[in-house]
Amino acid sequence: MSVAKLAGLAVQMVAHGKGLLAIDESIGTCDRRFAALGIAQTVDRRRAWRDLIVTTPGLGQSIGAIILNEETIRQTTLAGVPFAAAIRDAGIIPGVKVDSGTIELAGHAPERITEGLDGLKARLEAFAAVGARFAKWRGVITIAADIPTRGCIEANAQTLARYAAICQQVGLLPVIEPEVLMDGPHDLARCAVVTEAVLHAVFRHADEQGVALEGLILKPNMVLPGSDCPDQSDLVTIADATVRSLLRAVPAAVPAVAFLSGGQPGALASARLNAMNDRFKARIPWQLSFSFARAIQQPALEIWNGRDERAEAAQAAIAHRAMCDHAARCGTYDASTDVPLIRAQAA
Ligand code: 13P
Repeated sequence: MSVAKLAGLAVQMVAHGKGLLAIDESIGTCDRRFAALGIAQTVDRRRAWRDLIVTTPGLGQSIGAIILNEETIRQTTLAGVPFAAAIRDAGIIPGVKVDSGTIELAGHAPERITEGLDGLKARLEAFAAVGARFAKWRGVITIAADIPTRGCIEANAQTLARYAAICQQVGLLPVIEPEVLMDGPHDLARCAVVTEAVLHAVFRHADEQGVALEGLILKPNMVLPGSDCPDQSDLVTIADATVRSLLRAVPAAVPAVAFLSGGQPGALASARLNAMNDRFKARIPWQLSFSFARAIQQPALEIWNGRDERAEAAQAAIAHRAMCDHAARCGTYDASTDVPLIRAQAA
């Protein structure tokens, strides 16, 4: 696929104020979230949960793309339709998480490196054959007293760039996710320094590996104080810090930035995205969107709790959070009442 076609796909995935919905948790992560609520950790329950999400009425009004995992993209919905086809039929673009998770980075314990480059081209071709239009790969960076090390940042950035180049080689759009974790007592300024260092490394390696900047979506963390930091900062401070770091490190040729939620409560993630679009929409070169998993799914998962008779109420909760994030794309989300005010189409 040409760079122009990948660029067109990126624009389409976030068009009209839409964003991405990530339902690509690995089996282990999904099972951990189910276990915390007492939901049975089975193939059947994981399939039922993903079916409930993708069949949410009207989801395509706010969600432009859905990220599946390898298990789900090979399953059918409860109606017997392959998941990728059901998503496409709902007017949403299907994609798939293709990394194989993280292991300890040799020589840099306890830091992590993401695996999955070996044989990736053939796996991507197989995913494209079952309907995936884009892929996702997550690299993880932890902040603590002496980390991240330069070695960890460089290894993860180069791996993300190699993955992105292989995606573009086979015509899939790469979603590049370098996640600086929220865990820890560090402050907002430290997160900003680390996030900028990571993003600079990612785009330097992307350039070295021949990745076309127009044909990718960046999925970064917001710049936030660590979850144990006594000063949690207000919306404006976080919006300003995040956009400042992105402006310093993300080339203007990149069409869209779609934040991960990283464990933020849904309403807070909406409010922070809203503050960024409200304050900076007129002067940022990329679409500022979302690619949330927990911030959209968590309230609905708690309502569903594994019980199919609660599916409709859970779907209403998913639609609500997705509409709030859609409004946050337009800068019209009302944080005081958690109401999405959709006034006009975002660009
Ligand atoms: P969260 O929004 O829950 O951080 O998940 C995003 C994601 O895709 C993690 O890989």
